[in-house]
Amino acid sequence: MTEPVIAAKAPIAVDVEAGKSYWWCACGKSQKQPFCDGSHKGGSFSPVQYKAEKSAKLWFCACKNSKKQPLCDGTHKSLV
Ligand code: FES
Ligand code: FES
Repeated sequence: MTEPVIAAKAPIAVDVEAGKSYWWCACGKSQKQPFCDGSHKGGSFSPVQYKAEKSAKLWFCACKNSKKQPLCDGTHKSLV
């Protein structure tokens, strides 16, 4: 299986709005991190939808290795 590109080794804070959907970049190639800009096309990754149930500041994974994607679970700290 292909590995995602590590866009950054730290999460990105986003103020999400209740009721809105967000498309998280899973491949790591997007220039609009942490969200998808279509750069995954032709590869083996697809964006992951996140539907905000309430407005909040969330930390989206930018290393693309989180087990709780699209949100950061701290895995970036163990990446070499
Ligand atoms: Fe990465 Fe779309 S650009 S999933
Ligand atoms: Fe990916 Fe934290 S940025 S787990």
